Amino acid sequence: MRLLVTGGAGFIGSNFARMALKTMPDWELTVLDKLTYAGRKENLEDLDSDPRFKFIRGDICDEKAVSEAMEGCDAVVNFAAETHVDRSIDDSASFVRTDVEGVRVLLEAFRKEERQLFLQISTDEVYGSVEKGNSVETDQLAPRSPYAASKAGGELLAMSYWTTYGVPVTVTRASNNYGPFQYPEKLIPLFITNAMNGEPLPLYGDGLNRRDWLFVEDNCRALIMIIEKSEPGRIYNIGAGQEHTNREVTSSILEITGADRNLVRYIEDRPGHDRRYALNVSLIENEIGWKAETSFEEGLRKTAGWYRGNRTWWQKIKSGEFREYYLSMYGDRLTNSRESG
Ligand code: NAD
Ligand code: TYD
Repeated sequence: MRLLVTGGAGFIGSNFARMALKTMPDWELTVLDKLTYAGRKENLEDLDSDPRFKFIRGDICDEKAVSEAMEGCDAVVNFAAETHVDRSIDDSASFVRTDVEGVRVLLEAFRKEERQLFLQISTDEVYGSVEKGNSVETDQLAPRSPYAASKAGGELLAMSYWTTYGVPVTVTRASNNYGPFQYPEKLIPLFITNAMNGEPLPLYGDGLNRRDWLFVEDNCRALIMIIEKSEPGRIYNIGAGQEHTNREVTSSILEITGADRNLVRYIEDRPGHDRRYALNVSLIENEIGWKAETSFEEGLRKTAGWYRGNRTWWQKIKSGEFREYYLSMYGDRLTNSRESG
């Protein structure tokens, strides 16, 4: 099978490409990626010599680039997206463009030929904040950030192509991923790398927001199993049931890195900050036979080990565009920060 993997130079996409080539000898992969600030060709460097792997730099909103990249592909896995909630609060334009319009362009190219699967990578954030219980796939969507709303738009559009044109669409909604190659704007890689540099760890609000943490390799294994087994028209939650407050995550990072607790700063909260996400994963367990295998402790140790061993990767990122972003996002808030929540 030949797969088009969009956004394959980002965090989850590059982990997926690596695992797919390693474990699926009959698969060939074309990665189409715009290489935005979050995408890095070097995330795929070790795959370059594999004859089953091809990289194309291009935008999923560009009809010509998409139709050329999709030529001869049986399946599309769409990871390409703008993904950071805080950036979407600052400016939602690129989110609506890539996460909604980009999906439309992909779907239009996809349906020009008979193909096997369009896998739209969505997120648990489409359910909105879940104060109690767990979200099931049939729950009403209630996204609350421009990022989550754009992702909801993308997956709804994809599903509409299944009901309208019979395009074989499957949607996944994973919880927060963490692991190697994650751009250090997200909580876990930001705090690990700041801790390793002896810099402040900026916790939003009271630090008691909760997320269900999924090790990226568990997510990628789920996606490979879904590509092999899923019926079209399905939506699957993917979560590990490893729920932690941000304070707990921070304590674990301090322990693993040996950094000083005085680095923790409580800063002004994110507007509209979702308190909690939690997923019911019975459907994927029962229909696909997948279960997360990595505990949070083990996954965090592996992740910290990767950042320890790949300092040049993240130091290069943190000295570029990131520095400006960090100053505008955190500068004033850190000046007005508190040492307890
Ligand atoms: P990421 O930000 O690390 O990577 C996104 C990739 O998409 C980058 O390589 C970027 O260059 C590329 N891209 C962006 N706009 C593009 C465009 N217009 N055309 C082509 N490529 C473009 O993101 P990630 O964390 O790897 O997330 C991948 C997918 O998984 C996203 O769809 C995201 O919504 C979803 N998701 C992520 C998480 C998580 O915790 N990271 C959880 C659930 C779902
Ligand atoms: P993030 O990694 O941005 O993922 P998402 O918002 O998509 O879940 O944030 C995870 C949690 O960590 C979320 O509750 C916000 C919080 N957070 C902080 O407290 N400080 C930070 O600097 C960041 C980036 C996130």
